[in-house]
Amino acid sequence: MGTSGRLSLTWINKDRSLISTRDGGYEWVNRDDFRVTETRLLRDVATVGEVHDDLKRAADNLLIQGDNGDALRALSRLPEFADEYRGKVKLAYIDPPFNTGQAFDHYKDGVEHSVWLTMMRDRILLIRDLLAPDGSIWVHLDDSEGAYARVLLDEIFGRSCFAGTVIWRSTDNSNNDAKTFSVDHNVIHVYGKSPGWLTNRVARREDQSGHYSNPDNDPRGPWFDGNPLGSPNPRKNLQYEIVSPQGHVIRCPPNGWRWARETLNEKMATGEIRFTPDGKGIRRRTYLLEQGGLPPSTLWADIEETGSNRKAKAELKRIFRGKPTAELFKTPKPESLLRKVLEIATQPGDVVLDCFGGSGTTAAVAHKMGRRWILTERESGTVDKFIRPRLDCIVNGEEPGGISKAVGWEKGGGFRHLEVAPSMYERMGNRLLLAPWVVGDAFAETACAQIPGFELEPGSESPFVGRKGRRRLAVVDGLVAESTVQSIVEALCENESVLIVAKSYLREAASLLEKLSPGSRIKKAPQDLLDMKGRVLR
Ligand SMILES: C[S@@+](CC[C@H](N)C(=O)[O-])C[C@H]1O[C@@H](n2cnc3c(N)ncnc32)[C@H](O)[C@@H]1O
Repeated sequence: MGTSGRLSLTWINKDRSLISTRDGGYEWVNRDDFRVTETRLLRDVATVGEVHDDLKRAADNLLIQGDNGDALRALSRLPEFADEYRGKVKLAYIDPPFNTGQAFDHYKDGVEHSVWLTMMRDRILLIRDLLAPDGSIWVHLDDSEGAYARVLLDEIFGRSCFAGTVIWRSTDNSNNDAKTFSVDHNVIHVYGKSPGWLTNRVARREDQSGHYSNPDNDPRGPWFDGNPLGSPNPRKNLQYEIVSPQGHVIRCPPNGWRWARETLNEKMATGEIRFTPDGKGIRRRTYLLEQGGLPPSTLWADIEETGSNRKAKAELKRIFRGKPTAELFKTPKPESLLRKVLEIATQPGDVVLDCFGGSGTTAAVAHKMGRRWILTERESGTVDKFIRPRLDCIVNGEEPGGISKAVGWEKGGGFRHLEVAPSMYERMGNRLLLAPWVVGDAFAETACAQIPGFELEPGSESPFVGRKGRRRLAVVDGLVAESTVQSIVEALCENESVLIVAKSYLREAASLLEKLSPGSRIKKAPQDLLDMKGRVLR
């Protein structure tokens, strides 16, 4: 129990944060460490298929290589991406490492519980900012951390946003060597961004319509007649008798009929309500044709419908024909599982996010089902060996497997491959310096990304790079002298002020700026972008 009296989960270092390390692990740092708070840029690596102009690149499907903490921060803070995605993602499906203690070839799956919980907490908080008010998050796990994640999600979203936990049958052959149970399922916790989130209804399966039949060739098709005819509450005007053509008097149920006499007569005229052949009762026909979908069940045990781990591996084997099984991605999910998730939580055109990309199943399915998608993956080897070839084939019409046939996928569309840029800072002893790559346009872009609220102004005349209302941002990759201030102020329009970020400036230049344009300021990078403790100022 937390000090506030609210139920909460505690763990060691809950008040700290983590940064990814090169070996695929994590290192503890303070929450305000510049490596956690800095906004990284997203650099273009390649484009595949049809994409927008570079100026509208954020509107493309996005494959981002890099740590998902950095990628999610960039998506919600860099103005070009934030406009497109903050509060607009309809579905976040994540299938993070389960923390089973195993080491897979392509990623580690065993970290301290507190590391796992902190890593997840920080990512889920970032995802929450990106979710649309009517969006949902689906967190796919097993028993290793499933129960802890449920409490963590309650803490982040609130218990009122919990929609359900799907039990997905993950295997079609039980483990005969298990010491206790053969664990044959995974869990998927589902939370709405807001309380009252609604699922789409799902089509009925054949076995859910088995009670409908058409023995008398009714032109409206299969029907069943077991629905109640009585009113749920007693009402005087619903209590009347009916006389059948055979002359039998049919008494109403204890609370009366469900309809007033006129409505019941109308239903008799259309054939929806009919006398029984002996004339001693009436029946109401409910037609299959008129029934909508059903609310989705939490039990997904039909391997034909939602696949299994084995089916997912078989899908990859088919895509990467010739690759030895031992080299294939070890923990893919089947396309049919993701298809069902997308059917329940999205419509065509909605944005789907998966920040633990793996072999790219979520993006593959979203693409084939006409959703927009963002996929992030930390390991460059996984991106190069699995995700890129798989998605390239889908765009080029060379991937007829998985759900392609079922959803009628042929080819088309496209995506942008981006990577998270390195940090703009480098530590030298106790000092933070700008990294050597932070020059020219890169300096302008990174400086703008660190200063909240400024939008990049592409095409504006140097040194102006950004704007926040009537305040402009000028970035100077060098020294600002009095003459620089003079020319910058001359270029301002009436009522405009300026924030100048420069690598250095003369004191006289700062005084002149204050005199010529009161309210305007100069900041020196990186020192003035960080506070006294080396924290990024936001
Ligand atoms: C269980 S797999 C996902 C499998 C995926 N659903 C599929 O169908 O192929 C988890 C993936 O998350 C990636 N990952 C782990 N930590 C990450 C991080 N901090 N940032 C981005 N990706 C990460 C791993 O490299 C791994 O590829």
